[in-house]
Amino acid sequence: MMFSRLAVASITKRQFSHTVSNATKIAVLGAAGGIGQPLSLLLKLNPFVSDLALYDIHGAPGVGADLCHIDTKSTVKGYLSEYDGLQKTLDGAEVVVIPAGVPRKPGMTRDDLFKTNASIVRDLAKAAAQHCPTAHILVISNPVNSTVPIVAEVFKKFKVYDPKKLFGVTTLDLVRARRFVSELRESDPASEELIVIGGHSGHNFEGQELDNLCKRVQFGGDEVVRAKGGAGSATLSMAHAAAQMTNSLLEAMSGKSGVVQCSFVQSDLYPECAFFSSQVELGQDGVEKVRDIGKINEYEENMLKVCRAELAKNIEKGKTWIAANW
Ligand code: NAD
Ligand code: LMR
Repeated sequence: MMFSRLAVASITKRQFSHTVSNATKIAVLGAAGGIGQPLSLLLKLNPFVSDLALYDIHGAPGVGADLCHIDTKSTVKGYLSEYDGLQKTLDGAEVVVIPAGVPRKPGMTRDDLFKTNASIVRDLAKAAAQHCPTAHILVISNPVNSTVPIVAEVFKKFKVYDPKKLFGVTTLDLVRARRFVSELRESDPASEELIVIGGHSGHNFEGQELDNLCKRVQFGGDEVVRAKGGAGSATLSMAHAAAQMTNSLLEAMSGKSGVVQCSFVQSDLYPECAFFSSQVELGQDGVEKVRDIGKINEYEENMLKVCRAELAKNIEKGKTWIAANW
């Protein structure tokens, strides 16, 4: 399934042993927003996190003051742009998660957000490249298919680009797929082992049921945008998905082996798509291996063809824009 997503998070390398210090500073950029707040809450509850730095152009100190009363070990601090707030947020961050930017309203596509969000993501990426150049960056801001290439180009300009540490957060596609499939199968979503790639999910469905399922996963975002009637897009399920992705990364950073997530990363799978969402093996330094998508059927092959063509355009759009709007 093809989607665009961008979030930034940063982590340092730690040894996984009985003396794990869990000294990981995480920065959330756009922390006072619909995704930022519940995501920050979930990260406050994550035992891998030692310091949570929250940044937003509005409201982050209040969110920080609220969360810092929660009885877990991590510290929380909220910053605005004044008094070098962005630099203080990013200094020492090992994971940077970026949900900053505008969400869709009914009738808009994710690509309609490009005009506003491209420059927001560019500016935050510039700050991250300067203040925490080795951090893992998790991009949530839409359109992810274009915002991730923008971050890559910014990091290249600063000569600090490490493709293993840049992730577009596409976990919500998988979260949705597990839930929707489990509704049809009357199963536990947690037991559903699915893969959502730049356009693929494992299944035993066929005919109209398969069409409906694929469409629902691909357009799950529209379902939420319509239901919210102009008040934004998915925030709570997205916060859950981003927290899941961040936790997987933190686990891998801590030395846990066998951690696999679907994510939109630099990829050699298809020459026209420098970035692609597929299963990624995570390690202490980020992406260890991009898995091959495996055997797919004719139905999936057709979807993939459409996806690749569209995705290539989205990636190029981000690259062309940043070249002209540096
Ligand atoms: P929101 O409007 O509720 O929150 C966005 C926050 O970003 C606001 O608090 C705003 O003040 C802040 N912000 C704006 N410019 C900023 C800047 N320059 N620096 C720091 N913060 C800034 O929106 P939301 O519902 O939280 O969605 C945020 C983004 O995430 C949207 O682009 C949306 O499309 C995207 N999204 C992605 C996925 C995904 O699967 N990747 C899912 C849902 C939403
Ligand atoms: C989603 O899939 O919910 C997000 O990408 C937000 C959107 O605009 O649909």
